[in-house]
Amino acid sequence: MRPPLPGSLRLRFLLAITLWVVLGVGAIWFSAVGIFRTHVERSYHEELEVHVRELGRLTALAPDGRIVLTRPLSDPRYEEPLSGFYWQVTADGRAPLKSGSMTRGSLDEHIAHSPEILHTLDNGPTGPAITYGFTRTGPRGEDIHFVIATDQRELDRLVNSFTRDLTLWLVGLGALLLATGLAIIGFGLHPLDRLSRAIGRLRQGEAVELEGRYPVEIAPLAADLNAYIRQNSDMIARARVQAGNLAHSLRTPLAIITDEAERLAERPDSAAAGQVLLDQAGAMEQQIEYQLARARSSAGQPASGRTTRLPDVALPILKAMERLHPGKHFRLAVGGCSGTALPVDPVDYAELLSILLDNAGKWASAEVVLAFTCAADGAITATISDDGPGIPAPELARVFDLGVRLDPAVPGSGLGLAIARDLAATLGLRLDLTNRAQGLMAEVRFTP
Ligand SMILES: Nc1ncnc2c1ncn2[C@@H]1O[C@H](COP(=O)(O)OP(=O)(O)O)[C@@H](O)[C@H]1O
Ligand SMILES: [Mg+2]
Repeated sequence: MRPPLPGSLRLRFLLAITLWVVLGVGAIWFSAVGIFRTHVERSYHEELEVHVRELGRLTALAPDGRIVLTRPLSDPRYEEPLSGFYWQVTADGRAPLKSGSMTRGSLDEHIAHSPEILHTLDNGPTGPAITYGFTRTGPRGEDIHFVIATDQRELDRLVNSFTRDLTLWLVGLGALLLATGLAIIGFGLHPLDRLSRAIGRLRQGEAVELEGRYPVEIAPLAADLNAYIRQNSDMIARARVQAGNLAHSLRTPLAIITDEAERLAERPDSAAAGQVLLDQAGAMEQQIEYQLARARSSAGQPASGRTTRLPDVALPILKAMERLHPGKHFRLAVGGCSGTALPVDPVDYAELLSILLDNAGKWASAEVVLAFTCAADGAITATISDDGPGIPAPELARVFDLGVRLDPAVPGSGLGLAIARDLAATLGLRLDLTNRAQGLMAEVRFTP
């Protein structure tokens, strides 16, 4: 799975789920530890109360006045030295009796100062201890103090080991929840991934519309986009046809005007006016030819969704060029581009190559080379080089203008490069002319 990009839906969901899991697991941890501690404390206190009662029951006074137990307490931990479980019985004027575990220190007998069982947290022989005690009156009217204590750390140890286990378990659960959360995000966003792939194919020219079925939330979006794409390409096609029709319809009236202007130019009294008319009619004719060529180039073709195969697109053009420019040799260098699909309209692209190859053929002295190069970053370049005179540097920018021809001796209309520049702009390609040591090089570059 790809790491989510900044600003992506995936990252939003991931953050939300992480927060949700951390809060949920944290709340469970906090409350579980609290509840467990309360439970353990309660059962500890109950146990101690039972033990101090047992101590009271088992204590007796021997005939010689000593305090004795009729039998040991049922819990063996009271006999293990410094085990954390202690008891003690004291009375004024008698030797105190202590549990076998209390090999040093003693418990504070003042905790036991009433016949009722009382408890407190006190210092025991081995640290803070939960202490229970009560008193009973002896045969001489003296107080006998029964005290029993358990180290606080025993309780802490139990709670800590529970907390450790719980933490491990909850971390595992949290990881599992996050993993399922990721899977859910992937599953939920899958249609969007499909949509973005479909848009990619559309841009690459591998599809003419968004393909596939989408969930109801985004289906209208896909449908709207498809409708928009169709409408757009219909509109472009219609506009081209209309421009073509308009240019066509102007041709005949223009021919009549030219005819009339020629007649005026022949008459001495109107020669100047006739010449002006002739020049203007010439300019109009150029515009018409240009618009007709543009309309021909991809009229009726969908604006997107087509790819150009390399080098196949060039083969018929090169054959035509060899017939058109006999005596010039046209060479093709495919580089690493064999079978490459260029995501542009093939009709327009072929037209663009034709214009540049035709120019190169006209001005080359012997050879024209069409070379394709495909870079690793997806850039695809076509270069058309000839061994002709090239173009004087100051004219390089001007030759793209409508009707500009530098060499009137060579037949032409001056429209070729203007159309080429237009085509390149429509196709999103970069068109550059540069002079080489010998001849001109035209470069058509596609960058993804
Ligand atoms: N390969 C080339 N070598 C030298 N000059 C060129 C070349 N291509 C174009 N030109 C110059 O640019 C001018 C404009 O070219 P273009 O627009 O195709 O019109 P046309 O080919 O009809 O003359 C040409 O008249 C020519 O002077
Ligand atoms: Mg030309």
